[in-house]
Amino acid sequence: MSDLQSLRAAIGSFRDDGLSIALVPTMGALHAGHMALIEEAKRRADRVVASIFVNPRQFAPNEDLDAYPRKEKADAAMLEEAGCALLWLPDVAAMYPAGFATNVSVSGVTDGLDGAARPGHFDGVATVVSKLFNQVRPDVALFGEKDYQQLAVIRRMAIDLDMGLEVLGVPTQREEDGLALSSRNAYLSPEEREAARALPRALGDAARAIAGGGDVAEALAKAVASLEKAGFGPIDYISLNDAETLAPMKTLARPARLLAAARMGRTRLIDNLPIEPSQ
Ligand code: PAF
Repeated sequence: MSDLQSLRAAIGSFRDDGLSIALVPTMGALHAGHMALIEEAKRRADRVVASIFVNPRQFAPNEDLDAYPRKEKADAAMLEEAGCALLWLPDVAAMYPAGFATNVSVSGVTDGLDGAARPGHFDGVATVVSKLFNQVRPDVALFGEKDYQQLAVIRRMAIDLDMGLEVLGVPTQREEDGLALSSRNAYLSPEEREAARALPRALGDAARAIAGGGDVAEALAKAVASLEKAGFGPIDYISLNDAETLAPMKTLARPARLLAAARMGRTRLIDNLPIEPSQ
């Protein structure tokens, strides 16, 4: 469905029947990570709405908007098979009609990490996600923890703007060798794909060292060295941050997240792991 009037009618009829609604926003090229969101959404609400919209406002001019994989037919079949009640597929003109002039910008949690590496990215995300929330009016919306900073931004925005819905994070789905599932993994050559498993390994090693009381700076430096050795570069960041505010941490004093972004060839990969301080 791609026009707002039909979407509103369909949502209205779910509401008339007293049904709760979960929204899974995506940019398509669906994989098992997205399907885990759909499965969790089915547990959380009576009807699941998925959206597919490759949002131009969250890509910088030098990024992969044009190359971003588009597989709408296969995606629609996967969603139907999984029991998704409705697919919302707006086009760019429907999402951003002529004269569109609003920007949603969240500060604080966007200060570092991808907020610094991809200026404007989270404004694009917050703006489109606000629109999706207003269009679908879900009770709960689900996002993957692989995009951990994005999840933090959307949580902050939903609280700050009294959006009245639950924002739920779902753990990252991984390949057997640990690589986080991502639509962008499709860009990797077989050699790059093999080398990319160094990313979850480096994060895992650093997370274990830090959780075991090791020096944070030393663990991060080791992780950088092992990523470089595997062929990653440039490394945008590998950083220990507060799990909620995303403020950088030099020691493990509170629940934390270890986050990384690095390039393997032309593919930018991100990943993160939780770290809890011992009692
Ligand atoms: O994570 C994504 O796929 C996108 O950033 C989202 C949340 C659908 C907004 O365009």
